Amino acid sequence: MCGIVGYIGAQKAYPILIEGLRKLEYRGYDSAGIALLDSDHVEVMKSVGRLQQLEDKVGEFVPNGTIGIGHTRWATHGRPCDLNSHPHSDCTGQFVVIHNGIIENYQVLRSWLIREGHSFRSETDTEVLAHLVEHFYSGDLKQAVRCVLEKVKGSYGLVVMSEKDPHRLICARKDSPLVIGLGVGENFIASDIPALLKYTRNTLILEDGELAEVTRESVVVEDCHCNPVEKIIFYVEWDAISAEKEGYEHFMLKEIYEQPKAIRETLRGRITADGLVNIPEINLNQEQIKKLRKVVVVACGTAYHAGLVGKYVFEKLLRLPVEVDVASEFRYRDPLIGADTLVIVISQSGETADTLAAMRLAKAKGSHVVAITNVVGSTVSREADHVILTWAGPEIAVASTKAYTTQLIVLYLLALQLGQTSQLISHEEIITITDAMKNLPADVDSIMHKTEALKEFTQRLSVWNDTFFIGRGLDYAVALEGSLKLKEISYIHAEAYPAGELKHGTLALIVADIPVIALATQPELHEKMWSNIKEVKARDAYVLAITTEGDEETKKEVDAVLEIPATLPLLTPVLTVIPLQLIAYYASVSRGCDVDKPRNLAKSVTVE
Ligand code: G6P
Repeated sequence: MCGIVGYIGAQKAYPILIEGLRKLEYRGYDSAGIALLDSDHVEVMKSVGRLQQLEDKVGEFVPNGTIGIGHTRWATHGRPCDLNSHPHSDCTGQFVVIHNGIIENYQVLRSWLIREGHSFRSETDTEVLAHLVEHFYSGDLKQAVRCVLEKVKGSYGLVVMSEKDPHRLICARKDSPLVIGLGVGENFIASDIPALLKYTRNTLILEDGELAEVTRESVVVEDCHCNPVEKIIFYVEWDAISAEKEGYEHFMLKEIYEQPKAIRETLRGRITADGLVNIPEINLNQEQIKKLRKVVVVACGTAYHAGLVGKYVFEKLLRLPVEVDVASEFRYRDPLIGADTLVIVISQSGETADTLAAMRLAKAKGSHVVAITNVVGSTVSREADHVILTWAGPEIAVASTKAYTTQLIVLYLLALQLGQTSQLISHEEIITITDAMKNLPADVDSIMHKTEALKEFTQRLSVWNDTFFIGRGLDYAVALEGSLKLKEISYIHAEAYPAGELKHGTLALIVADIPVIALATQPELHEKMWSNIKEVKARDAYVLAITTEGDEETKKEVDAVLEIPATLPLLTPVLTVIPLQLIAYYASVSRGCDVDKPRNLAKSVTVE
């Protein structure tokens, strides 16, 4: 979702801005634009579509400016088109703004500005910012931006540039991430670290309410009361290479294949030599754990689906009631939580707007908040009471894969850690589970070598516009994730159903040859699943079953089978999801879709 870059230094800004935007493409966008300050004159270039279209439009006549800002927009207010693309300018064209987030009171401000004589060109909320800067400017750009921020309600990561003040960029943040990269004689601004990695690893992460004045030689940060803030330099350790494709055709495939390694990283140092769990990040003591009356998991998208698996795991191991909610629902339903509730927020990016709001609500209500996130330094990681990092490495493809499996691993570890500290789970049981967990990377790896059956099934699937995923218990939770993956990247309509519920409606949609993916890995539910498979087979559906090695009975019922290695039933979701990810991937490729950047979707959803 929307990307921001800014540059001020001695080099030509254009290639740096384009390169930075390219690194943010994975976030999803539908138009792009750049503004350069050349000989005290601002030049704005923008285009709907991909960055390449912007570059084609700019052609060979690139302005020479050494100061500039760039943006990739994911449409919220106003359709994707050249005019609605950022940067936005005021009436005079002297002030330009790029902005991530939403200005909630923009309509009131727009009407007021129009009465003041301003004329608007776009349908966006952002344009009011440019006109407001024009309105408040009286010789000091920073002061003008301060006045603007006092007027606006909503969320923003923004950068302002002006030919009236050609030696600085002003940026500010509220509920939308912004990072400043420190160079020598040059400085950078971005909404996400990958845009900076080629140039610097020394960064300053802006906090909510902070404003920064960035020149070639300096960065001065102030809080919302205009007090100077002494920022700590955050050194980015990741390898830039891990954000590249490394020979894979798509980031998604690379990330699917990285899962054995990612799971190993998640487990590293968290299981002791004697098989117990060691998560020092969770420092709740026995008394605090025993006082917990319920667990609430809050997240969005794939992370929400990981939470659904977490519900089965926590309820089974800890016998504590667990609710799982999508963050956009949770935050508006006045949830019944308090000091006796453990709230687990799950977010790969740590920046999803609804998840952040849900986390803040939980904190305000006095709950213990544990965050599971992949991004060091993300807002979630900075604000939660306890943080467990998934260590999956950068995930670039919009469709989440390795983030999901590593979130599952953390959920298992968290349940075990709580059970261990509170003595609700015996050491024998913990050791049995951790022993099996240590095999998961190899188990996942072995599934990656069985792709033939999946490719064959996907050939059939790809010509359909509908498909069904069925399962019971943990298999149902994974079915939901499988169907989301397929929808997101292949645009095939997919429904995940609890298998026992089919006959209450959805069975009416089962017709001859329609592809059905039946997940049948839970031994205590096998017989029930066989009945449900028979129900769809009786309507001539074409059924692929995901079963556990050695399950000869299920094989007899279906048209195709993918066997996952035997493991503890509780741990199967980590394995079952792998063929589902691969099916979605192959279907997307065979239908010629944009695998890594599916239409209308964004990697990091920083607006509500
Ligand atoms: C977007 C992404 C999904 C992701 C969801 C939550 O919709 O496309 O892949 O699961 O956001 O993101 P988060 O970063 O909070 O896990």
